[in-house]
Amino acid sequence: MAYISPALNVMIAAARKAGRPLIRDLGELENLQVSMKGPSDFVTNADKRTERILIEELSRARPGYGFLGEEGGAVEGPDKTHRFIIDPIDGTLNFLHGVPHFAISIALEREGQLVSAVVYNPATDDLFVAEKGHGAYLNDKRLKIAARKNLNEAVLATGVPFRGHGDAARFMAELDAVMTNVAGIRRFGAASLDLAFVAAGRFDAFWERDLAPWDIAAGLLLVREAQGVVSDLSGGANMLDTGHILAANDPLHPQLLKILRAAK
Ligand code: IPD
Ligand code: CA
Ligand code: CA
Repeated sequence: MAYISPALNVMIAAARKAGRPLIRDLGELENLQVSMKGPSDFVTNADKRTERILIEELSRARPGYGFLGEEGGAVEGPDKTHRFIIDPIDGTLNFLHGVPHFAISIALEREGQLVSAVVYNPATDDLFVAEKGHGAYLNDKRLKIAARKNLNEAVLATGVPFRGHGDAARFMAELDAVMTNVAGIRRFGAASLDLAFVAAGRFDAFWERDLAPWDIAAGLLLVREAQGVVSDLSGGANMLDTGHILAANDPLHPQLLKILRAAK
């Protein structure tokens, strides 16, 4: 990568360190699938441990920065201009089932702007990083969003509401409106990686509602730095507040936004 800021270096090191035990856990989880006890306590512990390692590593290198983490919530630091936004395991259900598609997601916000991002899948050792104004990379390869202009060739990722989460009826209306216009729709189960895959040109677009800031903060910077367009589902820039997001390239974004906004 052409330029890695000192802060991004710290975030990469923290993600790699917190990721190592998750690789061991994944092997253990494959055995736990068939045990009576089931793996859910094990996963809760893995989540907590991962966030603890990340916070330890990040605050050692950047004392004073604030945190917004899925497990620990918002913690203000003396330095009000910086905050890390962390999802220790994005794609927990995949992890729980031994599916190697999950990620540690870390974003750094400076004065309300996302400036650095890491999305790291320890199971595949795929490291996606972005630095504001310096591009997005996957393991040192520069990322560029897909060039497809026609919706009928596009492959999209999305998220599906589940028990106790999301608006199923609205999702069905959106799915119905989108699916007959596109080449295919995928549900992989980790929003941070969905966005990283859009940045990498693997998916042409991604939309989902009701996400948390830690699901999308890092991934949306990856998409922007790969020259993609990211908005909320009204076309505004309140993705982190609303939890609704659409990411695509320049030609596809308005087409999809129109279809999604009309879906009722
Ligand atoms: C979930 C994943 C999933 C999305 C869910 C999120 P978690 O995060 O990002 O793709 O559809 O809404 O909650 O719970 O695995 O960290
Ligand atoms: Ca998540
Ligand atoms: Ca999580």
